[in-house]
Formats: sequence, structure tokens, C-alpha cells
Amino acid sequence: MDFSQLVQERYSSRSYQTREVEKDKLLRVLEAARLAPTAANRQAFRIVVITDPVLRAEMKAAYHREWFYSAPVIIAAVGFPDRNWVRADGKNYNDVDVAIVMDHLIMQAAELGLGTCWIADFDAHAVSEILDLPDDAQPVALTPLGYPADSARPKKRRLLEDLVSWNGF
Ligand SMILES: Cc1cc2nc3c(=O)[nH]c(=O)nc-3n(C[C@H](O)[C@H](O)[C@H](O)COP(=O)(O)O)c2cc1C
Repeated sequence: MDFSQLVQERYSSRSYQTREVEKDKLLRVLEAARLAPTAANRQAFRIVVITDPVLRAEMKAAYHREWFYSAPVIIAAVGFPDRNWVRADGKNYNDVDVAIVMDHLIMQAAELGLGTCWIADFDAHAVSEILDLPDDAQPVALTPLGYPADSARPKKRRLLEDLVSWNGF
């Protein structure tokens, strides 16, 4: 699939089959995350892969949607702001880096026919507890991962002219 088609076809899946994700596909998805660019190449992130059914069920406390915690895999993208690059004006690029990592992962998953859904509306404290994250770790995004049991809806997006300015705002 070429990249333009991939961009068209990726969507947020909120229903998953019970079918397991093959290990080689999971590793390809993780490899895409590994190759993501990060500010100053700091690579201050960790991808936590949750396949254990007991742990997945515990993740219910972090985001209480059946389609989320019953997916065959849950992925937590975690950053370490203390180790990330900080611009001279104080802006920390942790969230940006982790978002790029997660997007690489999600797009690779889509190319392999796997569904995902960005999740930001989770209880970060619960995630830290369940996954036993170190104190300096900050969970930025979660996604379920698995074969989708739903299908894409038409994309609702603003027009290009509402989103792009040329040569100034
Ligand atoms: C940073 C971010 C956070 C999101 N958080 C959630 C979430 O907590 N729960 C949810 O169901 N969807 C979440 N979404 C999915 C968006 O609602 C979805 O991407 C958007 O509506 C566009 O739909 P599409 O992904 O199917 O193209 C999130 C998406 C992004 C990019």
C-alpha cells in the first residue's frame, strides 16, 4: 500500500476481533516506533506492550471501554521529560517525540491490516501503577492493537484552505 492510501485508510478502530496478533507483525510495528525521529535523537521513550490478559483487564481502570481493554494487545507510549531535549525558551519536546513514535507505530499497524485507536483520555496515575512505571516516566498515549471488527467511516476533516496558510498566517 502506498503512503497516500495508508493515510486515507487508517482510522480509529473501536472494535477488535479476539484473533491474536502474530509476533512478526507486532515486531514490525515496534520496529517502526524504534525508527521514529526524536528531537536531538534523544530517544527518551519506552513502548510498553501489554499482552498478558490479567494486565489487560487491569487496564480497565485506566480507560474504561470494553473495546480497549479486551483488544488482544494494548500499547502504552511513555516519555521521559527529564531526559528529553528542551529548547532554549524552555519548551520540552517529550510529547512531540512520543506522538511521532506512536504515529509511526500506528501507521505501520495500519499497513499490516491492524487496527489502533489513539487514546489520550486515560487515567495516567492508574497507568503508572498498573505498569509499574518509574517516577520519571510519563505515559503520553495508549492504543489497543488488533484485527479490527469494525470498518472505516468517512473522514470528517476541515478543508485544506482552513488548515493551511501560505507565506504567513
Ligand atoms: C492525540 C489524540 C488523542 C485521542 N484520544 C482519544 C480517546 O481518548 N478516546 C477515543 O475514543 N479516541 C481518541 N482519539 C481518536 C480521535 O477521536 C480520532 O482520531 C478522530 O476523531 C479522527 O478519526 P479517525 O482517527 O478515525 O480518522 C484521539 C486521537 C488523537 C490524535
